[in-house]
Amino acid sequence: MNVTPVNMKRLRKIQWILLVIALLLLGGGAFAWYKFFREVPQPPFANGEERFKYGSLGGENEAGVPYWIFVVLPRMFPEYLPGPGGYASLGIAWEEGHDLPIGFPKKTIGFERVGNNCAVCHTASYRASPDENPTYVIAAPGHTTDVQAYFRFLIKCAKDPRFTPDNVMREIDLIYGMSFIDRLLYRFAIIPIVKQRLLEREGQFAWMNRHGMPDWGRGRDDPMNLTKYFMLERPEDGTFGPADMPSIWNLDKYKEGQTLNWDGATWDPRSVLVDSALGIVLKPQRDFEAQMQWLEEYLRKRPPPKYPFEVDLDLAASGAKVFDETCAQCHRSNRTGRPVPLAEVGTDRNRLESWNKQAAIDGNIVVANMGVKRRGLVEQDLVGYIAAHLDGIWLRAPYLHNGAVMNLRELLEPASRRTKVFYRGYDVYDQVNVGFVADGPEARRVGTKFDVTERGNGNQGHEYGTALSADRKRALIEYLKTL
Ligand code: HEC
Ligand code: HEC
Repeated sequence: MNVTPVNMKRLRKIQWILLVIALLLLGGGAFAWYKFFREVPQPPFANGEERFKYGSLGGENEAGVPYWIFVVLPRMFPEYLPGPGGYASLGIAWEEGHDLPIGFPKKTIGFERVGNNCAVCHTASYRASPDENPTYVIAAPGHTTDVQAYFRFLIKCAKDPRFTPDNVMREIDLIYGMSFIDRLLYRFAIIPIVKQRLLEREGQFAWMNRHGMPDWGRGRDDPMNLTKYFMLERPEDGTFGPADMPSIWNLDKYKEGQTLNWDGATWDPRSVLVDSALGIVLKPQRDFEAQMQWLEEYLRKRPPPKYPFEVDLDLAASGAKVFDETCAQCHRSNRTGRPVPLAEVGTDRNRLESWNKQAAIDGNIVVANMGVKRRGLVEQDLVGYIAAHLDGIWLRAPYLHNGAVMNLRELLEPASRRTKVFYRGYDVYDQVNVGFVADGPEARRVGTKFDVTERGNGNQGHEYGTALSADRKRALIEYLKTL
């Protein structure tokens, strides 16, 4: 090209324009990065317990709810929650002085987001009497939490035509003075994207609402179907396997050759932690391995809680003998931590049937493809339920894998004499029967109804010790309090 002075001038001009455009793009990019992706580490936690309760696992990226939307949803749509009182009506643990419940970590990734961690399902609450404040115990079964009601709440909110940027912003304005820029972002990007994401959940969770399957109720979910349908995207297969949230303290108790999960579906603690965490974060973040390492070390050593009420030690000592004669052959022997065939233990079959060898093979492939190393799911046909370690059993009511027996006294009754309808999720402790109060006006108001005739809820089987005399049963129960 012949570069005349005129051409030269034009070229310079074009160069300037290009530079300005590039700067604008860069600036815009930096701005977008700052407002949407800039990751701010959470402030350090005072101790392991705080980290377990409020620490992010990295799920806020893929599965977080923007903080201000999370805050206003119960105000906008209280009718989609199980009762009055906002999120507390879901039975989640909420400590005084905290702006979010236990199990709902807050993290800024561009903007503040609310995620979940293990504590949402693995924190128990108990009280000696209705007028007491609850005591929260981490790594315990989250017997009050209604996970299904939370999923349903979010989806119903998103489907409601009142879930619009205008309405959400109006609600936020009532409680928080958002900056002009953030308002624009919320209105034109964040709110519409969240609505869209939550609506996608509706299809992903449609299997939850199949005809003939009761609600999970408080303290349970359908863990293997969550894995099969949500994580592995396998076709619906007609199974329904509701299971209690278990305790996850003292994981050091699992020795080589023992397996975890109610049916022994997983080889070792690390594998269960990894799979549970992937269910929360969906995509492992950079620090995933380090997070898993911390969780494993913490939970291996976390001791089970001691029974906080009175124990008659003499009676417990005689109960120890009854235990040795009647229970130890499974619960303190080489059978412990290993499956007892379903035909032998005789409890409800649905949870066992909700998992299979092929699903385990598929699950191991999916996790390996994510680049995460673990020993993994047991690629075998499973035969029954694990003879559980009984550490901290006093806080693990209701009992059996599906939570069909409300307290220890009833577990020592033949199935025909166990209560057929009761209420789960009330946290006042029943020191006489060892378990939670499961009937009466308050338990009915707070809890979810559990009917043993519904699918997955059978209370049959495990009739060990039911023929003992009343005195020996009393002694045995006293001993069980001390484990
Ligand atoms: C949505 C509720 C939920 C969340 C969140 C959750 N779990 Fe669980 N967890 C369960 C249920 C239900 C089971 C029982 C599964 C079964 O049927 O075997 C379980 C089982 C386990 C077990 C096996 C216990 C045993 O002794 O067999 C461990 C360990 C565990 N979870 C750890 C975790 C960790 C660590 C996290 C967080 C990374 C987590 N869970 C998150 C509900 C949950
Ligand atoms: C033949 C083996 C066997 C014997 C004997 C046995 N159990 Fe069990 N136990 C099991 C199995 C298997 C399970 C899991 C069943 C299920 O969840 O469906 C279980 C579950 C339990 C649970 C519920 C654990 C939980 O987290 O909900 C308790 C409590 C319990 N057993 C106590 C006892 C007591 C007390 C005795 C003695 C009177 C006893 N067991 C005798 C095998 C046995």
